Amino acid sequence: MNIFGNGTARIFSILGLFIASALIIQCNSQPGEEPVSEQPQQAAQKAKQDTPELADAMGQLQYYTHKYALALDARNHELATFYFHEVRAAADGIIENIPGYEGYDIARFMNLFLSPTLEPVETALASRNWEEARQRTIEMVDACNSCHNATSHGFVKVTPGFSDNPYNQDFSAPE
Ligand code: HEC
Repeated sequence: MNIFGNGTARIFSILGLFIASALIIQCNSQPGEEPVSEQPQQAAQKAKQDTPELADAMGQLQYYTHKYALALDARNHELATFYFHEVRAAADGIIENIPGYEGYDIARFMNLFLSPTLEPVETALASRNWEEARQRTIEMVDACNSCHNATSHGFVKVTPGFSDNPYNQDFSAPE
Protein backbone atom coordinates (compact mmCIF):
# COMPACT_ATOMS: atom_id res chain seq x y z
CA MET A 1 0.00 0.00 0.00
CA ASN A 2 1.31 3.40 -0.99
CA ILE A 3 1.82 5.45 2.17
CA PHE A 4 1.83 8.58 0.04
CA GLY A 5 -1.49 9.42 -1.52
CA ASN A 6 -1.68 10.44 -5.17
CA GLY A 7 -1.80 14.11 -4.16
CA THR A 8 1.36 13.90 -2.09
CA ALA A 9 3.30 12.36 -4.99
CA ARG A 10 2.22 15.25 -7.20
CA ILE A 11 3.39 17.79 -4.62
CA PHE A 12 6.83 16.09 -4.53
CA SER A 13 7.18 16.15 -8.30
CA ILE A 14 6.18 19.83 -8.46
CA LEU A 15 8.67 20.57 -5.69
CA GLY A 16 11.34 18.71 -7.68
CA LEU A 17 10.67 20.77 -10.78
CA PHE A 18 10.82 23.94 -8.73
CA ILE A 19 14.21 23.02 -7.22
CA ALA A 20 15.56 22.08 -10.67
CA SER A 21 14.54 25.40 -12.21
CA ALA A 22 15.87 27.32 -9.22
CA LEU A 23 19.23 25.58 -9.75
CA ILE A 24 19.26 26.44 -13.47
CA ILE A 25 18.56 30.13 -12.73
CA GLN A 26 21.27 30.09 -10.07
CA CYS A 27 23.82 28.61 -12.50
CA ASN A 28 22.99 31.15 -15.20
CA SER A 29 23.56 34.10 -12.93
CA GLN A 30 27.06 33.27 -11.72
CA PRO A 31 29.06 36.33 -10.70
CA GLY A 32 31.42 37.59 -13.41
CA GLU A 33 28.86 37.04 -16.13
CA GLU A 34 28.38 40.79 -16.64
CA PRO A 35 31.45 42.29 -18.28
CA VAL A 36 32.76 45.28 -16.33
CA SER A 37 33.18 47.21 -19.60
CA GLU A 38 29.41 47.44 -19.93
CA GLN A 39 29.02 49.63 -16.86
CA PRO A 40 29.99 53.07 -18.30
CA GLN A 41 27.78 52.34 -21.30
CA GLN A 42 24.88 51.59 -18.99
CA ALA A 43 25.50 54.79 -17.05
CA ALA A 44 25.51 56.82 -20.27
CA GLN A 45 22.31 55.14 -21.35
CA LYS A 46 20.66 55.98 -18.04
CA ALA A 47 21.78 59.62 -18.25
CA LYS A 48 20.25 59.79 -21.72
CA GLN A 49 16.96 58.43 -20.43
CA ASP A 50 16.91 60.99 -17.61
CA THR A 51 17.60 64.00 -19.86
CA PRO A 52 14.67 64.73 -22.16
CA GLU A 53 15.57 65.07 -25.83
CA LEU A 54 15.17 68.62 -27.05
CA ALA A 55 14.09 67.37 -30.49
CA ASP A 56 11.22 65.42 -28.88
CA ALA A 57 10.12 68.46 -26.89
CA MET A 58 10.36 70.63 -30.03
CA GLY A 59 8.23 68.09 -31.85
CA GLN A 60 5.55 68.55 -29.18
CA LEU A 61 5.82 72.31 -29.53
CA GLN A 62 5.43 72.03 -33.30
CA TYR A 63 2.46 69.69 -32.95
CA TYR A 64 0.51 72.01 -30.67
CA THR A 65 1.54 75.10 -32.64
CA HIS A 66 0.12 73.55 -35.79
CA LYS A 67 -3.12 72.41 -34.17
CA TYR A 68 -3.49 75.86 -32.62
CA ALA A 69 -2.97 77.49 -36.05
CA LEU A 70 -5.59 75.24 -37.64
CA ALA A 71 -8.10 76.07 -34.91
CA LEU A 72 -7.28 79.77 -35.31
CA ASP A 73 -7.72 79.52 -39.06
CA ALA A 74 -11.14 77.95 -38.46
CA ARG A 75 -11.93 80.77 -36.00
CA ASN A 76 -12.72 78.19 -33.37
CA HIS A 77 -12.12 80.21 -30.24
CA GLU A 78 -12.43 77.45 -27.66
CA LEU A 79 -10.19 75.03 -29.54
CA ALA A 80 -7.56 77.66 -30.42
CA THR A 81 -7.43 78.79 -26.79
CA PHE A 82 -7.04 75.18 -25.67
CA TYR A 83 -4.15 74.50 -28.05
CA PHE A 84 -2.43 77.79 -27.36
CA HIS A 85 -2.41 76.85 -23.69
CA GLU A 86 -0.59 73.67 -24.71
CA VAL A 87 1.90 75.68 -26.79
CA ARG A 88 2.74 77.75 -23.76
CA ALA A 89 2.98 74.68 -21.53
CA ALA A 90 5.33 72.99 -24.02
CA ALA A 91 7.51 76.11 -24.18
CA ASP A 92 7.57 76.42 -20.37
CA GLY A 93 8.44 72.73 -20.11
CA ILE A 94 11.48 73.20 -22.36
CA ILE A 95 12.69 76.21 -20.35
CA GLU A 96 12.32 74.26 -17.14
CA ASN A 97 13.48 70.78 -18.13
CA ILE A 98 16.00 71.36 -20.92
CA PRO A 99 17.65 74.66 -19.94
CA GLY A 100 20.85 73.67 -21.74
CA TYR A 101 21.48 71.57 -24.82
CA GLU A 102 24.62 70.92 -26.85
CA GLY A 103 26.29 73.93 -25.27
CA TYR A 104 23.42 76.31 -25.98
CA ASP A 105 21.66 78.19 -23.21
CA ILE A 106 18.24 77.03 -24.40
CA ALA A 107 16.31 78.64 -21.53
CA ARG A 108 17.86 82.02 -22.29
CA PHE A 109 17.24 81.69 -26.04
CA MET A 110 13.64 80.61 -25.46
CA ASN A 111 13.07 83.66 -23.26
CA LEU A 112 14.85 85.91 -25.72
CA PHE A 113 13.14 84.79 -28.92
CA LEU A 114 9.88 83.00 -28.21
CA SER A 115 8.52 84.27 -24.87
CA PRO A 116 7.92 87.91 -25.97
CA THR A 117 5.83 86.69 -28.94
CA LEU A 118 3.38 84.62 -26.84
CA GLU A 119 1.60 87.36 -24.93
CA PRO A 120 0.53 89.36 -28.05
CA VAL A 121 -0.99 86.17 -29.52
CA GLU A 122 -2.83 85.46 -26.30
CA THR A 123 -4.21 89.00 -26.05
CA ALA A 124 -5.46 89.05 -29.64
CA LEU A 125 -6.97 85.59 -29.25
CA ALA A 126 -8.73 86.49 -26.00
CA SER A 127 -10.47 89.42 -27.71
CA ARG A 128 -11.29 87.29 -30.79
CA ASN A 129 -9.36 89.71 -32.93
CA TRP A 130 -8.77 87.06 -35.60
CA GLU A 131 -6.70 89.09 -38.05
CA GLU A 132 -4.46 90.41 -35.29
CA ALA A 133 -4.08 86.92 -33.82
CA ARG A 134 -3.13 85.55 -37.22
CA GLN A 135 -0.48 88.25 -37.69
CA ARG A 136 0.96 87.70 -34.20
CA THR A 137 1.02 83.94 -34.84
CA ILE A 138 3.13 84.47 -37.95
CA GLU A 139 5.52 86.55 -35.83
CA MET A 140 5.65 83.79 -33.23
CA VAL A 141 6.58 81.20 -35.86
CA ASP A 142 9.22 83.60 -37.21
CA ALA A 143 10.66 83.64 -33.68
CA CYS A 144 10.86 79.80 -33.73
CA ASN A 145 12.95 80.02 -36.89
CA SER A 146 15.10 82.88 -35.59
CA CYS A 147 16.05 80.71 -32.65
CA HIS A 148 16.78 77.77 -34.93
CA ASN A 149 19.16 80.05 -36.83
CA ALA A 150 20.76 81.21 -33.59
CA THR A 151 21.33 77.62 -32.41
CA SER A 152 22.77 76.18 -35.65
CA HIS A 153 19.48 74.57 -36.62
CA GLY A 154 18.41 77.05 -39.30
CA PHE A 155 17.64 74.07 -41.53
CA VAL A 156 14.58 73.39 -39.34
CA LYS A 157 12.09 75.84 -40.88
CA VAL A 158 8.63 75.77 -39.37
CA THR A 159 5.53 77.39 -40.85
CA PRO A 160 2.18 78.27 -39.23
CA GLY A 161 0.52 75.62 -41.43
CA PHE A 162 -2.80 77.46 -41.62
CA SER A 163 -5.43 75.53 -43.61
CA ASP A 164 -3.07 72.60 -44.08
CA ASN A 165 -4.74 69.88 -42.02
CA PRO A 166 -2.96 66.52 -41.93
CA TYR A 167 -4.87 65.35 -38.84
CA ASN A 168 -7.92 63.13 -38.61
CA GLN A 169 -9.58 65.95 -36.76
CA ASP A 170 -12.26 68.51 -37.56
CA PHE A 171 -11.11 71.97 -36.45
CA SER A 172 -14.24 73.85 -37.54
CA ALA A 173 -15.99 76.01 -35.00
CA PRO A 174 -19.40 74.85 -33.77
CA GLU A 175 -22.31 76.54 -35.51
C1 HEC B 1 15.94 77.97 -27.95
C2 HEC B 1 15.62 78.40 -29.27
C3 HEC B 1 14.48 77.70 -29.96
C4 HEC B 1 13.18 78.14 -30.03
C5 HEC B 1 12.59 79.41 -29.46
C6 HEC B 1 12.48 77.15 -30.81
N1 HEC B 1 13.32 76.13 -31.17
FE1 HEC B 1 12.79 74.47 -32.20
N2 HEC B 1 14.68 73.75 -32.00
C7 HEC B 1 15.72 74.37 -31.35
C8 HEC B 1 16.89 73.51 -31.36
C9 HEC B 1 18.25 73.82 -30.74
C10 HEC B 1 16.52 72.34 -32.06
C11 HEC B 1 17.38 71.10 -32.33
C12 HEC B 1 17.19 70.11 -31.22
C13 HEC B 1 18.14 68.95 -31.28
O1 HEC B 1 19.21 69.06 -31.87
O2 HEC B 1 17.81 67.92 -30.67
C14 HEC B 1 15.13 72.54 -32.47
C15 HEC B 1 14.40 71.62 -33.19
C16 HEC B 1 13.11 71.80 -33.63
C17 HEC B 1 12.39 70.89 -34.47
C18 HEC B 1 12.93 69.58 -35.04
C19 HEC B 1 12.44 68.42 -34.22
C20 HEC B 1 11.25 67.72 -34.80
O3 HEC B 1 10.46 67.18 -34.01
O4 HEC B 1 11.08 67.69 -36.03
C21 HEC B 1 11.14 71.40 -34.68
C22 HEC B 1 10.02 70.84 -35.52
C23 HEC B 1 11.09 72.65 -33.94
N3 HEC B 1 12.30 72.86 -33.33
C24 HEC B 1 9.95 73.44 -33.86
C25 HEC B 1 9.89 74.63 -33.14
C26 HEC B 1 8.71 75.47 -33.05
C27 HEC B 1 7.38 75.19 -33.70
C28 HEC B 1 9.06 76.53 -32.28
C29 HEC B 1 8.24 77.73 -31.92
C30 HEC B 1 6.89 77.57 -31.43
C31 HEC B 1 10.45 76.36 -31.90
N4 HEC B 1 10.90 75.20 -32.43
C32 HEC B 1 11.14 77.27 -31.12
C33 HEC B 1 15.69 75.63 -30.77
C34 HEC B 1 14.56 76.41 -30.66
